[in-house]
Parts: sequence; C-alpha cells; structure tokens
Amino acid sequence: MKTDQQPRLDQTGVPFPRAGTAAEIWEFLLRYAVRAPSGHNTQPWRYRIADGHLHLYADRGRALPVVDPQDRELVMSCGAALTHLTVALRHFGHAGEVTPFPDSSDHDLLATLALGQAHTPRLDDHRLFDAIDNRHTHRAGFDDRPVARQILAQLARETHPTGAALHVITADEPKEAIAALVGEGDRAQFHDAGFRRELAAWIRPNRTRRPDGMPGYAFGIGDLASVLGPTMVATFDTGASQAKKDEQLALTAPVLVALSTAGDTPADWLKTGRAVAALLLRATVDGLCASFLNQPIEVPTLRVRLRDLVGGATPQLLLRMGYATTDRPTPRRTVADVLTKPPASTGTSS
Ligand SMILES: Cc1cc2nc3c(=O)[nH]c(=O)nc-3n(C[C@H](O)[C@H](O)[C@H](O)COP(=O)(O)O)c2cc1C
Repeated sequence: MKTDQQPRLDQTGVPFPRAGTAAEIWEFLLRYAVRAPSGHNTQPWRYRIADGHLHLYADRGRALPVVDPQDRELVMSCGAALTHLTVALRHFGHAGEVTPFPDSSDHDLLATLALGQAHTPRLDDHRLFDAIDNRHTHRAGFDDRPVARQILAQLARETHPTGAALHVITADEPKEAIAALVGEGDRAQFHDAGFRRELAAWIRPNRTRRPDGMPGYAFGIGDLASVLGPTMVATFDTGASQAKKDEQLALTAPVLVALSTAGDTPADWLKTGRAVAALLLRATVDGLCASFLNQPIEVPTLRVRLRDLVGGATPQLLLRMGYATTDRPTPRRTVADVLTKPPASTGTSS
C-alpha cells in the first residue's frame, strides 16, 4: 500500500509537486479534472488559479442549447470535475475545501477550491483516485449478473454527502415503466431535427484528433460507419429504433439509478454533478460500469412522470449500471486548453 511518505507520480510518471507552490499543485491536479464525464463530452469548464485558489467556471461557449437549454447538465458536468479534483486532492495528501458559488454577482463562477489541511490518504482514497482513469461510459449491454445489496448501499452512502439523493431501482415493474419513458424520450428527441443536428455536431469519426466530442467507438460503431455517423444522425429520424434499443437496455440492466435533488437550481445541478462523479468512481472501484439514460429528464413532460415513479424529489439524472468488460477512453482537452493564465508580465512598468 502507498503511504503518505512516498513521492506520488501521476499515471505518466510525472511526480506530484509536493514542495511546489499552490499554483503548481493546482495545475498538476487539473489533469484529473479534465477526465471527468460531461454531456456529449463537451468539457464545458475552464479554470483560473489566483491567490493559491482554483476557480472553476462554466464555459457556456460549450453549451448544448437544444438538449440542455438551461445549462443544467453543463453545470453538472462541472460538478463532476469538482469531484475528480477532490478525489485527486485527497490522494495527494490534501483535504481540500470547496466553496460553491462564492460570488453571487458571477453566475459562471461555480466553485472555488482551496488545498485545505494536510490529509493522510487511506487505501480507499487511492482506489477512488485510480478509478479516475478506469471509468468510462459503457453504452452496450451488461453481463447477466446482479449487483449485491451491500454494493448498492455503498453507492448510496457515497452520494449522500453531496446532498443529492440516490434512488435505486431493481424491481421489474418500475423498471418497465421507466424503460417506457426512456423510449418515449428517444422518440420525442430524435423527431426534433435540431436535437439531431446538435448531437451530430459532437459525434466524431473513430480516428478523430479532436480533443472533445464522442468518437463512434463509444457507441460500438466501427471505423467506416463512424465516418458516416454524424451525417446519418443529422439526417434521419431513428427515434423508433433508438427507443427499442434503449428500452431493452433499461429493462435488462441489473440496476437503474436516479439522482434527485430537493430543488432545481444551479446549486442543485452542481450537487448532482458532484454526486454522479462520486457514484461513478465508487462504481468503478466495485467493478461496475454505467451509462446515462437522461431522455425522460431532458423532455419536461416526461420528467414529471419520472418524478412520480422515483418518488417525490426532482429527478436530475438517470443511469443504468451493471457489470461489463471495460471500454476505451474518449479524448480530452489538455490542462493548457482549460486553464486561463494571467497575462505574462512584460517586466516594464507603465
Ligand atoms: C451530466 C451528464 C449527462 C450525460 N448524458 C448522457 C446521455 O444522455 N447519454 C449518453 O449516452 N451519455 C451521457 N453522458 C456521458 C457523456 O457522453 C460522457 O461522459 C462523455 O462522452 C465522455 O465519455 P466518458 O464518460 O467515457 O469519459 C452524460 C454525462 C454527463 C456528465
């Protein structure tokens, strides 16, 4: 087991700047923030380091106005990056302190982080950290293997501190009702040419060099088909076949989980993002994979019906979980792409 005394390396062998400045430490840690999941892999975040703190901003230039008109999932994606940061902080020996929405006059500033007190990492901190590189969205089916109750209870414990509630659905009847809503959501979304065009704009050929968006392989699509993928998606309403496929995936998943919050404000969305990343990293530690089925939340009329099915609160995300073999990582922008640095001093006084 690694102890706090050993110098830590990142996965590429670069040592953690233990004796570095706070700015050097934050810059190092951002390589884990950029691995966070995000809607359509838009990576809608940017960062600034000032006075020893890291500031996380929404990058609304990467919004998805059709599927996510309020930037709800955009803020969640940033919340997921926040969890990646706090997990990496603990692994490298810092407790971390997060202040959500520190400036009421700046709605884009979602959180400010401080390194916080020294923290002696435990084995679990290392396991969660390792999960950052091992977690991938799994869109194919799962093995026919149930998820033990203790594991589900642990997943709920993991999300609890974030303030979002986890609803676990394993029984056939609610699964069937939710699967039907997923199908309805697919048909409604794919019928909308604007939705299809927006989705197509973020689907990439498998051999893409672009650092964002979703390569065809993330959907199980081969190299040749992946080149045609965006045109096909933009042109044809495949809602009926997509609905059939997704309904089946929902029905056969060992577990469906919904994350909900009491309200529906940016603070609730940030909490949900923190919760989903905590959930996904813990699931990865436990050998589980997950995939999103947000259609019935993205279509407002269906969201009300889903709320009645999962009980009371406002549903924010819906996922299916189970066991499967691992997937390939999708591309990411670099730290340099997402970190806004202050202009270099010219050395002359004005
Ligand atoms: C808030 C949020 C919403 C998402 N919604 C969907 C979704 O509706 N369908 C889907 O297939 N993937 C969804 N994803 C997964 C992203 O597409 C995925 O994280 C991204 O493509 C990067 O791939 P990776 O998770 O394998 O790293 C969502 C992710 C986040 C954080």
